[in-house]
Amino acid sequence: MTKKRVLIIDDEYEIRSLLGNYLERMRGYEPSLARNLDEGLALAKNNRFDHILCDYYLNPNGNGHRGDGQTAVDFLRRAKATGINANIIVMSGKAEVDMAVEVTKMGAVDYLAKPITFAQLEFALKRAEERQKLYEENVQLKQQVEEKYSFSNIIARSPQMERIFGVVDKVKDYKTTVLVTGESGTGKELVSRALHFNSIRKHAPFVAVNCGGIPENLLESELFGHVKGAFTDAVRSKRGLFEEAQGGTLFLDEIGELPLSLQVKLLRVLQEHEIRPVGDTRTIKVDVRIVAATARDLGELVRQGKFREDLYYRINVLTIVIPPLRERKEDIRLLIDHFIKKYNKVIEPRKVKGVSPDAMQVLMSYKWPGNVRELENVIERALVLTEHETIQLEDLPFNLHSTKMPEVDESGVEPEPETLSIKKNGKEMEKRLISIALSKTNGNKTQAAQLLEISLPALLYKIKEYGLNP
Ligand SMILES: Nc1ncnc2c1ncn2[C@@H]1O[C@H](COP(=O)(O)OP(=O)(O)OP(=O)(O)O)[C@@H](O)[C@H]1O
Ligand SMILES: [Mg+2]
Repeated sequence: MTKKRVLIIDDEYEIRSLLGNYLERMRGYEPSLARNLDEGLALAKNNRFDHILCDYYLNPNGNGHRGDGQTAVDFLRRAKATGINANIIVMSGKAEVDMAVEVTKMGAVDYLAKPITFAQLEFALKRAEERQKLYEENVQLKQQVEEKYSFSNIIARSPQMERIFGVVDKVKDYKTTVLVTGESGTGKELVSRALHFNSIRKHAPFVAVNCGGIPENLLESELFGHVKGAFTDAVRSKRGLFEEAQGGTLFLDEIGELPLSLQVKLLRVLQEHEIRPVGDTRTIKVDVRIVAATARDLGELVRQGKFREDLYYRINVLTIVIPPLRERKEDIRLLIDHFIKKYNKVIEPRKVKGVSPDAMQVLMSYKWPGNVRELENVIERALVLTEHETIQLEDLPFNLHSTKMPEVDESGVEPEPETLSIKKNGKEMEKRLISIALSKTNGNKTQAAQLLEISLPALLYKIKEYGLNP
């Protein structure tokens, strides 16, 4: 068993050697000694200690006299800044509650009053190790939870998405064309990538092309390549994306935008497994799996004569439909946590912990027309704006609140409120109008009062009454 390393920082020689002896006797511990803060810090920077025992009053000269200067609090502060993450236990001649509170706040894990007995020290070390173990287990557990709900970076726990993960897993290795549909921002590309990167093709390229993003006259040579001189600008021959994706996956995004002329050519590739570069007489065999995506209703495009029926049937063999976010609310919370973590890292030094209950209510009841992409943007924006540890109502964009106003469902009927009391409903309405006004004016209360057409003192009073602005 490797010995645990313990650093003792104390200006009194007797204490250092006493504690050093205790540790030797305990077995399994290896003491290092420092006389003052600077020595201790230098040692701690260059070695990995499991525990650091630090005297409260540290005389810079290390001669046992109570100096004018440094305390364990200075040590804790500097240790934190340097990224030292040993268990720090503070010792002091007097048991003072204030001091104990102060050092614990600064990150000390324990506090011992001198004179320290062998048993006390042993107990303190064991307790710190127990805590450390629990902490590590907790971190590990959290990671496992995260992995459980993540499949190739797709965060989801809803039964609908679990079913999709199941389908992806089942069909990933076949060459069958897969069509992924769903509203904008639902994660069609993410699922398509998961299909490729979990398949036997994962070491070959995943090539994505946006069929709506390239002018029609260029798209053909982009997909199939061309030979030198095939057209005016073709000064040299060029490999197409099908060839680039050889052995791998070609992701045809926005397949509904593919011009009719190219639909015929794509159909031929799917049937013959070969392509013909523009201006070429030969054909080239290709082994490429096609994954197509669309946010549009392809069936409807077929009816409108904008999409070939034969191609439609050819690519519609296996369709993965990603439901909109509003139909899988279980995923919203998980995604919020995920994006908070993500943007805490991006927007340093943000340490946002979560979402306030009323903001969460808005996030859960909003319709999310832009789906996960919109949710991600909202969380990123909130992290930039917020001045609190939790995201507040006013950190959310205005259009999110407004959907909280009385809603009219498809049938045009307004849902009946829980109570018809004008007093209670009036208060709710006031609360909502005030938060909207505050968010619209970025918290400027004078301007908000003007929008609300009430006086500033009245607004301040109401804010306090409703607890709107902590
Ligand atoms: N389940 C999810 N977990 C984590 N991130 C997600 C999830 N779904 C979508 N996203 C993120 O949302 C954004 C949009 O996803 P993606 O581009 O795959 O959507 P899309 O359906 O292709 O959208 P569009 O139709 O607009 O092209 C991306 O940044 C993606 O990483
Ligand atoms: Mg996309």
